[in-house]
Amino acid sequence: MRIRRAIYPGSFDPITNGHLDVIERSRRLFDEIIVAVLVNIEKKPLFNFDERIEIIRTVVANSPEVKVDTFDGLLVNYAQAKQAGCIIRGIRAISDYEYELQMALMNRRLAPNIETVFMMAAEPYSYLSSRLVKEVFMLNGSITGLVPELVEQKMKEKFKQS
Ligand code: PNS
Repeated sequence: MRIRRAIYPGSFDPITNGHLDVIERSRRLFDEIIVAVLVNIEKKPLFNFDERIEIIRTVVANSPEVKVDTFDGLLVNYAQAKQAGCIIRGIRAISDYEYELQMALMNRRLAPNIETVFMMAAEPYSYLSSRLVKEVFMLNGSITGLVPELVEQKMKEKFKQS
């Protein structure tokens, strides 16, 4: 039997409860989900790849069908190499849609056999982004409930070091 495998790509710097909600919903649709962290050497991330991978692996540890990996180059090439038929993208407000539509259609042009599935996180996470989490945290605002406890703890450690 062919397994329904999907790729959930992103920067995940850091993973938020919105991302986890999308993963949770995707588990109902797919047999296996690969959370794929983009190796983007140009961006200056808060957490390096190893840290992000470790955090994600820990927070999805109770879901054996959720794998964690990194990728570089074209997403569709990675998806094909993994024999995944779907790309999952979380979509929040309508403002996300334009960029996401462009990416989905470009990916479809590059690989017509791969579908993009847009998932909507639960309403409490509809305004949530990794960028805002970092900004609020750096300005001493509370991010409790917006990210896994482990992420909050790692962010505290990181800012203590610097
Ligand atoms: O979480 P992000 O940063 O919004 O994720 C963006 C991501 C990783 C999905 C996108 O940048 C991507 O797919 N990059 C890989 C390069 C690629 O395939 N580019 C063409 C996309 S149309």
